[in-house]
Amino acid sequence: MDRRESPAIQWDGEQLILLDQRRLPLQQHYISYHEVAAVAEAIRDMVVRGAPAIGVTAAYGVVLAAKNRQSDSITSWRSALEADLQQLAAARPTAINLHWAIERMKSTLEGEPEQWIARLTREAEAIHREDIEACKTMGRLGAAYIDTGSGVLTHCNAGALATGGYGTALGVIRAAWEQQRLAAVYADETRPWLQGARLTAWELLQDEIPVSLLVDGASSWLMKQGKVQWVVVGSDRIAANGDVANKIGTYSAAIAARHHGVKFMVVAPTSTIDRNVATGEEIPIEARAAEELFSCLQGERIAAQQADGWNPVFDVTPAALVDLIVTERGVVEQPNREKIAALFSE
Ligand code: MRU
Repeated sequence: MDRRESPAIQWDGEQLILLDQRRLPLQQHYISYHEVAAVAEAIRDMVVRGAPAIGVTAAYGVVLAAKNRQSDSITSWRSALEADLQQLAAARPTAINLHWAIERMKSTLEGEPEQWIARLTREAEAIHREDIEACKTMGRLGAAYIDTGSGVLTHCNAGALATGGYGTALGVIRAAWEQQRLAAVYADETRPWLQGARLTAWELLQDEIPVSLLVDGASSWLMKQGKVQWVVVGSDRIAANGDVANKIGTYSAAIAARHHGVKFMVVAPTSTIDRNVATGEEIPIEARAAEELFSCLQGERIAAQQADGWNPVFDVTPAALVDLIVTERGVVEQPNREKIAALFSE
């Protein structure tokens, strides 16, 4: 897999190489990882972010853990590995792809231990490859719903940087752009990490797709002007009833979209659907340090010195506000529990 296909995550057989997304777009800086503890820290500290990308990264983290813990006794190998994987799973709470990838990796730990490293490596590479394929399928399926001449708004970054490659929401936007369906692409800045301004704009411009940035609070006014017909976003976790957790601000965009007759599309692989949570109320919402709000990307403080902060970084959009969930297994229109379950039985 070359850097163009998977810009955020590289694996060379020995080490994991991550593009440090905290420094984009000013610098393209890569960091090499040889230890699972450092991989967990990279996920927690947002070197790599975006639910599917976190899953792919965790899968390679499991390979590193297994290599470093390798021992003659299966029992001690398994228990050392279990402790490492718990630490990895705790890195970020909302993105279910993290847990999904770790569980899938664990399921390969059967049979002869001599084969474990080779088997884990093949599995991690398969998770990475399948994620890119899923994004391309979703791109094609989602783009078909967008009429020629439409404007679209996206929130946060659900692009190649947030996945194995190509992107979920940005995969749909890429495919729709290639098919000349789009009149305009708008991206919310996405406070406080500015994934829209820094990452989505950078990614789209690399593909020569023009993009206009707006402050998060401007999206309802954009809809009022009739400039967009679709809001297209990714997800960190989808509950069994179709409720969608995604970057804070997604819920406001969905409410505004419904009010203005703008359609709301969620693009996510089935690895993002958590059938163990009945509704969005059960999805753990990550709260990050309030300091993230007080300054511009760890720079000088701009907020009033005595102010407190509240910094939930995801919210839940109820299924009733979602027009489409696009997965690699098919599209669910007006999602509900039965339609989501049917995705897994087909
Ligand atoms: O905090 P982040 O940057 O990890 O949040 C990312 C998002 O909210 C994305 O929309 C989501 O993970 C889907 S990425 C394809």
